[in-house]
This record gives sequence, C-alpha cells and structure tokens, in this order.
Amino acid sequence: MASASALPIIARKLVAPGKGILAADESIGTCGKRFQKYGIPETPEMRRKWRGLLFSTPGIEKGLSGVILFDETIRQETSEGEPFAEYLEGRGVLPGIKVDQKTEPLAGSPEEELTKGLEGLPERLREYVGFGAKFTKWRAVIRIKENLPTDACIEENARRMAAYAKESQRAGLVPVVEPEVLLDGVHTLVRSEEVIGKTLRAVFREVKREGCDLSGLILKSSMALPGKDSGATASPGEIAEATLRVLLSSVPKEVPGILFLSGGATPEEATERLNEIVKKGNAINAPWPLTFSYSRALQDPVLAAWRGKDENAPQAQAIFAERVAQTARVSEGRL
Ligand code: G3H
Repeated sequence: MASASALPIIARKLVAPGKGILAADESIGTCGKRFQKYGIPETPEMRRKWRGLLFSTPGIEKGLSGVILFDETIRQETSEGEPFAEYLEGRGVLPGIKVDQKTEPLAGSPEEELTKGLEGLPERLREYVGFGAKFTKWRAVIRIKENLPTDACIEENARRMAAYAKESQRAGLVPVVEPEVLLDGVHTLVRSEEVIGKTLRAVFREVKREGCDLSGLILKSSMALPGKDSGATASPGEIAEATLRVLLSSVPKEVPGILFLSGGATPEEATERLNEIVKKGNAINAPWPLTFSYSRALQDPVLAAWRGKDENAPQAQAIFAERVAQTARVSEGRL
C-alpha cells in the first residue's frame, strides 16, 4: 500500500506535462449502450477484448499517465493472461479504479441524484490496492434546470464525495473527485459557470472539513458550457475564459492538477476547448496543470472503427494512438 506521503507523488505523476488520463470505467450498462450502436454483443469477453484493444495500443504510454478501470475490468486479463492493472503499470501507465456505485434519487427532488458507494468502501479499496490500483475516482452528477440544482443535492453529493476522498487517501490511493455538471439542458454559459462554482466550493469546503490532504487529490471537472439544448454557441475562447475564471475562484491552489471530462462533446470540440483552456491557463500562470480524462472523446472514433471485429483491431488501434497523441499535444496547448 502507498504511504500517505506517496499520495502527492502519484497525484503529480497523473498530471505530468503532456499526459492525461483515459477514462475506461464505463459501467456494464453504459458500455452496453455504446456497444448496442454497433451490434457488439454485451458480454464480459467482448468488454475484455475492447479494453484490451485500447490498453495494448502501441505508443499510448507517451500520452497517458493513467487509465481509470471499472470493477469488472480490474479483475480481467490481457489475452496473454496478465491482469490489466499489472499490464498497464508495466507500460508506465498508472491503473485507477472507479469506486462510486450507481445513484439514488434525492428525496424531495426526484430529478436529482445522489451518488452511492460509501458502504463497504474501505474493504473494496483494500481489494483494489491488492489488484495494484494507484488512484480512484468518484463521480457525482449535477443537473441544471430552472430550479435545479437544489442546495440539498450539491451539499449531500459534496459531503459523500469528501467522505470517499478521505477513505481513499487512508487506503493510500489518490482520489479523483468528479462533480460533473451535466451539459444537458437549456442553460446559458453564465449559468453553467455559476453552478460549477457553487458545486466546487461545496466540494472543497467538505474535503477540507474531512481533513483530506489537498496535495494528494485531483479534481476532474466539467468545462463551463452553454446547455446542449440552449441553441446557444460559445467559442473555445469564451469557454476557456469562463472555465478558468470559475476554477480560479473555487479550486485551492494546493490541488496538484485538474482534469477535464468530455461530457458528450465531440472529439473535435473536446480537443479545441482543452487546447484553448491550456493556452490561456499558461498565459495567466494558472496554479495547476490542466489536462484531460476523457472517455467518449478518446474512444468514440475507435469503437466506430472496431465494431467488435478482430480484423478491424489494427485500424482501431491506429485511430486510438492518434487520438491519444493529439489530445496529449493539446494538453500542452500545442494543437
Ligand atoms: O465519468 C465520466 C467519465 O470519467 C468521463 O467520460 O469524457 O465521456 O464525459 P466523458
């Protein structure tokens, strides 16, 4: 098990210059939805093949500091029989694990959800340490509507997230806290910035209250964006300004780094926006490295090329290698 003093070292490795994280921690249901689009059988073996294709792509270690795994995947092996976590670490890519478990409706506000997963968490963390995990992730979902999010949703999700972060640090695993403010909705860019700020302030207040070591924790955030159904557009420059403004006003500078999720943006949008955020962040000497932890924006074109067919694997891996290399360049503002 990593000692408490190892946490900042692992955290800094995760946000090393020119690198980011592949989120490959889709639940069985979410992975299934992506497979359905191409008629790929939703079996453990096809999910193992898919993850194996991604992880064994030549050259990805140059652009990936880590990969977030799902519970099923950390128990699976490469076709040569090496457990995935060990295989990744052998390639210099840190294995991480999603530890939140489904959501439950918030009492009195049925459109909102609270993330579950605290029950039995210390035992699960111990098991993941045994598999070789170095970091963990916990995602909460915040929805924007006319009267949402409620304070109760933000506060209770922040409280649970902080309790998770503390447990993770106790187990010697770097927590990645991900309060995702959803893109769905008709809200403006200003409203998105406001909700992200309110959420992040609640998260860091709770994280401090729990006594977490801020230097051994990473934030995974949404970018500030107008709602998907708002009809509004914002340029990468406007998005970058709003995103940096809200992060600067709500994230402690002791945090070693900030990752962005792609949240349903296209690979091109996720690339351009990150590039702009990093360029502007560098120009103002932002206190943290800013990089990616994308799932869809890295994987979608690869899955579309693979379609579950062995003969398509080389082509799919070539696309993935290029997506990783390009996104890694962008994480240094070099589009
Ligand atoms: O929890 C969400 C994933 O870690 C990020 O996925 O990049 O498709 O939003 P995304």
